[in-house]
Amino acid sequence: MPVYSEKVMDHFQHPRNVGEIENADGVGELGNPTCGDIMKIYIKVKDDKIDDVKFKTFGCGAAIATSSMVTELVKGKTLEEAERVSNMVVAEALDGLPPIKMHCSNLAADALHLAIEDYRARKAGKGPIGMVETPEHDEDEHDLLEHA
Ligand code: FES
Repeated sequence: MPVYSEKVMDHFQHPRNVGEIENADGVGELGNPTCGDIMKIYIKVKDDKIDDVKFKTFGCGAAIATSSMVTELVKGKTLEEAERVSNMVVAEALDGLPPIKMHCSNLAADALHLAIEDYRARKAGKGPIGMVETPEHDEDEHDLLEHA
């Protein structure tokens, strides 16, 4: 059983910004083919900044905590700043994640980046992007996967 930081437990038990945004400007929807978890992040953009952000996660505790943290980190940020929020940044903001749970933070950060990409694609008349699969994890990581 992995050991979680207090911040991870807090965001897991009291996730921030849960829900949907109707008429979102961008939606990032990702499925992890290894563990089967699904993440959806909605953004509302105003003056090139993330005016509002919400998420829905069908996933493990770490996926819920990382998506909650990612929404807190990017609210009010410019799209460029939000793009720089990587899975490592999210994990650090949560005071770390057990190594076997790092892939869950990928799901949160990737879904956010996809929502931004989707926003840009829609603006250019090429969206929406729709659901995407995260890259397969290697076998070792697969063997180590366990749900919280
Ligand atoms: Fe699938 Fe965490 S996102 S186990």
